[in-house]
Amino acid sequence: MIPKILVFAGSVRSGAFSGRTADAAQKALALQGADVTRISLADYPMPIFDEDLEREEGIPENVMKLARMIGAHDGLLIATPEYNGSLPPLLKNAIDWVSVVRHDGGRQLKPLAGKAVALCSSSKGQHAGVRAINHLRAVLVRCHMEIVTPECSVPNGGSAFDAEGGFADERLRHAMDIVAQVLIERARMLSARGDI
Ligand SMILES: Cc1cc2nc3c(=O)[nH]c(=O)nc-3n(C[C@H](O)[C@H](O)[C@H](O)COP(=O)(O)O)c2cc1C
Repeated sequence: MIPKILVFAGSVRSGAFSGRTADAAQKALALQGADVTRISLADYPMPIFDEDLEREEGIPENVMKLARMIGAHDGLLIATPEYNGSLPPLLKNAIDWVSVVRHDGGRQLKPLAGKAVALCSSSKGQHAGVRAINHLRAVLVRCHMEIVTPECSVPNGGSAFDAEGGFADERLRHAMDIVAQVLIERARMLSARGDI
């Protein structure tokens, strides 16, 4: 079974280091045989989560679109930037919205629970977004996701990538390969078990 893996970044900035990290992840996953879909959260604009809005107007269509997209994949890879030691509001808001989806029409849809997810981070500084990745992991545990242990955290984003979009540092290439390998294995296993 070829696992379907969805990849996105927590920033939609042009040239974002997290976007480039997601691109590197996409390549590593594809090279290891996954069926990869790369999306941008820019294509799913959504309001700031508000329970009044949810009650009065229901779940926005772009949230449902993202939930369906996640639901159609066996695993996720998220590349987060770090804002003030945590994940950025764009990413947290998207996760919060998707976490309240339970149904799509008459069909059950809980896109996050039981799904394999791998985490990457990046920053322009030397700490590589490791504080953000720790917060993101804690959030996704509350969403009952199956988080794989290997991670790839990219420091000094301004000089981390080569002209082809790969990592300049061989150690990061190796770390991303391990992330891709373990995510593919876990996604395949959970999908075969029928957990997702
Ligand atoms: C509001 C804000 C807070 C930030 N806080 C941090 C931080 O806590 N740690 C860090 O390493 N970089 C921080 N940065 C710098 C980001 O690492 C840098 O802007 C990075 O390029 C953002 O991610 P992106 O390239 O994926 O868009 C912050 C940037 C912004 C705009």
